[in-house]
Amino acid sequence: MTPREPAGPGGPVLRVEELSVRYPGRDAAVHAVDTVSLSVEPGGALVLLGESGSGKTTLARTVLGLPGRNARVTGRIHLGPTDLRALTEREFSRVRGSRIGYVPQDPTGSLDPLRRIGPQIAEVLRRHRVATTRRAARDAVPGLLTAAGVPEPERIARSFPHELSGGLRQRAAIALAVACEPELLIADEPTTALDALVRVQILDLFGSLRSRLGLAVLLVTHDLAVARRVGGQVAVMRTGRIVETGTTDQVLSRPAHSFTAELVAARAGVRR
Ligand SMILES: Nc1ncnc2c1ncn2[C@@H]1O[C@H](COP(=O)(O)OP(=O)(O)OP(=O)(O)O)[C@@H](O)[C@H]1O
Ligand SMILES: [Mg+2]
Repeated sequence: MTPREPAGPGGPVLRVEELSVRYPGRDAAVHAVDTVSLSVEPGGALVLLGESGSGKTTLARTVLGLPGRNARVTGRIHLGPTDLRALTEREFSRVRGSRIGYVPQDPTGSLDPLRRIGPQIAEVLRRHRVATTRRAARDAVPGLLTAAGVPEPERIARSFPHELSGGLRQRAAIALAVACEPELLIADEPTTALDALVRVQILDLFGSLRSRLGLAVLLVTHDLAVARRVGGQVAVMRTGRIVETGTTDQVLSRPAHSFTAELVAARAGVRR
């Protein structure tokens, strides 16, 4: 493989090569992401699985062009043919929201608590020129909420985030993230705060967005049950490195790496 050649049509949506992220510390630098390579195909899902502090959020936010303020980043990141590391901040802000959707780890992170849901979604459509008039943007909102599994979309569009249940708020955040039909959706622990039934519904929603829009999903979790439900591919992270990759079924049923085996065994212990 020639690593610097951009992906042509039919290639992966996301290609990360030898990505490293270091945070300078008082004593020693934290190597939050250590020489990571991965890719996600159109309509595919990659689950980034790892324990707390393994670097999952740092990796996800670096792909979004939002690593910590003093992060030192090396390596290559391509979104389709676009070299993301070569973009200016202004160019990157056009990519975020239109070509990459993001559901952040903090469930309140993407919705503005002071504004109703509908106008927030309409504004994203206007900002990225998906809707050219205010009217067209407003009219598109109920359909987008419905596609994210929100019942009574007109009423929800008029609600403030704090007026919604956690599950509905997360659906609204997902509707916002995919409003401009991005190529890639990055979701960081999107179901951690939700009960089991809602969790399954949200994970299945990602599945339907993948098949309906050809959306590629990069999903971050520490939860094996979440990884199993999403399916697709999994990359197991430990202290900044990917220790094992493969299909989720294969990796979780026959782990090749001792760390993955420990994760699976610990989970089995919880269930017993
Ligand atoms: N802005 C920052 N400045 C300095 N160190 C950071 C910063 N962000 C993250 N780190 C460090 O990088 C490492 C990876 O953190 P990260 O948040 O990416 O892990 P994570 O896998 O998402 O964990 P969790 O499951 O708890 O969310 C940790 O040691 C963390 O303390
Ligand atoms: Mg995290």
